[in-house]
Amino acid sequence: MDIPSELNEVVLPQNVVGPLTRSAIFLVLCIRQDEEAYARLREFCADLSGLVRAVEFRDVEAGLTCVAGFGSDAWDKLFGAPRPAELHPFREIRSGGRHAVSTPGDILFHIRAKRMDLCFELATQIMESIGDVVSVADEVHGFRYFDDRDVMGFVDGTENPRGDAAREAAIVGGEDSSFAGGSYVIVQKYLHDLKAWNALPVEMQERIIGRRKLSDVELSDADKPAYAHNALTNIEKNGRQQQILRDNMPFGRPGHGEFGTYFIGYSRTPQITETMLENMFVGNPPGNYDRLLDFSHPVTGCLFFVPTGTFLDNVTPDAPNAAESAEAPSDQPILSAPATKSVAVYDTSLKIGSLKGENNE
Ligand code: HEM
Repeated sequence: MDIPSELNEVVLPQNVVGPLTRSAIFLVLCIRQDEEAYARLREFCADLSGLVRAVEFRDVEAGLTCVAGFGSDAWDKLFGAPRPAELHPFREIRSGGRHAVSTPGDILFHIRAKRMDLCFELATQIMESIGDVVSVADEVHGFRYFDDRDVMGFVDGTENPRGDAAREAAIVGGEDSSFAGGSYVIVQKYLHDLKAWNALPVEMQERIIGRRKLSDVELSDADKPAYAHNALTNIEKNGRQQQILRDNMPFGRPGHGEFGTYFIGYSRTPQITETMLENMFVGNPPGNYDRLLDFSHPVTGCLFFVPTGTFLDNVTPDAPNAAESAEAPSDQPILSAPATKSVAVYDTSLKIGSLKGENNE
């Protein structure tokens, strides 16, 4: 691909497409609603990559990464226009007794590593830095369970896209060139009624998930009901499967009877994940809903946009100037958000992520 000579700064996505790790922390924060807090947050954005490097270097082999995402309202307050084309608050869904709740959240930190102590240290450093201007909406410490299973006993993540397919599914490209290299992420914290689930015969559990429990092999079309989880989340458009990139994590507190799955789905457009949720909660056709929801319910629901790492590095503490930025044409590949320095943004077909030496395969 030809790189225009006037563009001397390459845009690096955040580590959205990373390897599955043993540990993760999901931290959702709300920003105090005043300009001092927003300015502090902007300053922090530019410092974040340095903070991650400092903690990561204590054990480089442990592969610490951190993805930061921003909610719709927070985006306007922090960065102003232009804004990612499809960024909006998480849309709740109600159907039957099922409810995909929409809950507060301005910033998501998705921290992953092979070792929990590194995740813990980075979360601590983040809170040290901005703790006095944010409140914690939710904090979940996830762990990898036996054979990559969720606490319901099924292997979770098998049909995730890998390598180029993962980048294609998760990373925004030329369709929103000002934000190419970014990603949309939806998170939901699910709690399970494990007693009721474990009382079901395994054959019934397998029909609900759509895969064999022990071997993880997919049920044949003849055996798989239309309400199976992997039938309702299998979305096709023009004969092509529409994929998202998941990195769900089990979590829980056995002493409190709490057992959960933290759902996290990255996609280049939130519409795909939203269609999956619609199919799960309302049903496809309506009424043919996901029976997993008879045993699990979400207690949080948020949508964030994950800008590129380069975007974050270039954020300045100044408040956004909406009037100035509204004049910027949206289809040119130069991002000039008012609260950032000028940066050239490329289509991710460059596979820029691999320049970072990530092991994404
Ligand atoms: C209680 C929460 C959830 C649990 C325990 C769960 C568990 C699973 C399991 C065990 C599989 C089969 C293995 C695999 O391919 O990964 C699966 C597949 C999948 N799940 Fe979920 N999931 C949950 C929520 C969701 C949500 C909220 C979405 C999307 C909005 C979703 C999207 C998918 C997709 C796209 C697949 C792959 C389907 C295919 O075979 O093409 N899941 N999930």
